[in-house]
Amino acid sequence: MYVNNSAERGNFGSRLGVILASAGSAVGLGNIWRFPTEVGNNGGAAFILVYLCFVFLLAMPVMLAEFVIGRGSKANTVGAYRTLAPGKPWIVAGFMGVLGGILVLSFYSVVAGWTLHYTVESFANRLTAGQDFGAVFNDFVTNPWKPIIFQFIFLLMTHFVVSRGVERGIEQFSKVMMPVLLIIIVLLMCFSLNMPGASEGLRFLLRPDFSKVTTGVVLSAMGQAFFSLSVGLGCLATYASYFKKDMPLVSSAFNVCLLDSLVAILSGFIIFPAVFSVPGMAPDAGPGLVYITLPHVFNEAFASVPVLGYLFSGMFYILLLLAALTSTISMHEIATAFIHENYHLSRRSAAVLVTLICMLLGAACSLSFGPWSEVKIWNRGFFDLFDFLTAKFLMPLGGILITMFVEWYLDRKFVVEQLTNGGTLRVRGLSILLFLIRWVAPIGVGIVFLNEIAN
Ligand code: PFF
Repeated sequence: MYVNNSAERGNFGSRLGVILASAGSAVGLGNIWRFPTEVGNNGGAAFILVYLCFVFLLAMPVMLAEFVIGRGSKANTVGAYRTLAPGKPWIVAGFMGVLGGILVLSFYSVVAGWTLHYTVESFANRLTAGQDFGAVFNDFVTNPWKPIIFQFIFLLMTHFVVSRGVERGIEQFSKVMMPVLLIIIVLLMCFSLNMPGASEGLRFLLRPDFSKVTTGVVLSAMGQAFFSLSVGLGCLATYASYFKKDMPLVSSAFNVCLLDSLVAILSGFIIFPAVFSVPGMAPDAGPGLVYITLPHVFNEAFASVPVLGYLFSGMFYILLLLAALTSTISMHEIATAFIHENYHLSRRSAAVLVTLICMLLGAACSLSFGPWSEVKIWNRGFFDLFDFLTAKFLMPLGGILITMFVEWYLDRKFVVEQLTNGGTLRVRGLSILLFLIRWVAPIGVGIVFLNEIAN
């Protein structure tokens, strides 16, 4: 009864394409540097355990709810609520998603732009020994125009993929790039695990220390699971609107969660053995790790065979760049699909509009590290403000609304039909999944949300 049968909508052509595109959205900057530092600082294997519980008990149900909304409506995230709940206020969740997608893309592309710059520097062999990498990084990010140029080039790369369309752009790109990304991870891991500091690095990463798992750490693990799986903004609902009728939703969500967690854990296997191979080097938190500590490590650890350091560093930044790009195309697609379908603009024009808006807002985020560092709204620069608004506000709130919408508003029969493909699939543990969507996810995310707001 609900289904929108618009014939001209794009579709993902294959199951593999669906998994790789959704995993591409999930695997991003969040996995490769944020996750390993959180693990290292917050109790090693104990943190990983807590994190995995949240991935499967909390983020996966939200992902499934997004899949139901997207494939069940065959519309963009705003159109989905218009189709499934006409005239009802649920549509607000759709608009929040579009806004969130634009804000995330605006600040995320700043870091992606830095990564592009470091990739170029690395291949041009300019990240050589004897430099103060802290000062180099600081000079670059505070420069008024250089980081913006790289950010814009990165946004244009994102634009290029999105404007080619769902099957020829997003799917084709993900099908080539995700395997490349996985191959690079395995190669880098082999490199890293053979380094002299490997065992110390692994001990730092994996030693389970439950005493470090405080309430704050548990809540940050929840937030990390949510951001890492790209749930709450309708990004995966938008992708799911391009799924075919026979796409199994439950196993797809499970595979995406598995792949995302694997990449996050393996990134730790790459970074820490390398960092601990340099005597006296301590893992830094946040951007410092990737842009300051690692260039130093690449030089020191491979001082006797510089060509290996050159290769390792180049591959590492390419990995980060690809991971960022497969994520940004999914953020871009939320707003592009919305504008294209709601305002009857061509897909290309809709994509141009989104790219221009993100360039404008993104430049403000970039400038907040340099000339605009004094410009504050609610005590935050633009970059921090957008990060806060999305990760701490729009994503959790979106997650609560999405799961409540599916389990409390939609007809249970419709939801079960989506999850079982009209009864043709046997889904083990279906009632447990429905329970997670109905109770565990909204309450769990609600707790994180209230806690974040209170801090
Ligand atoms: N999951 C991405 C990461 O871990 O880097 C970030 C992300 C992608 C957030 C898409 C939100 C989104 F809609």
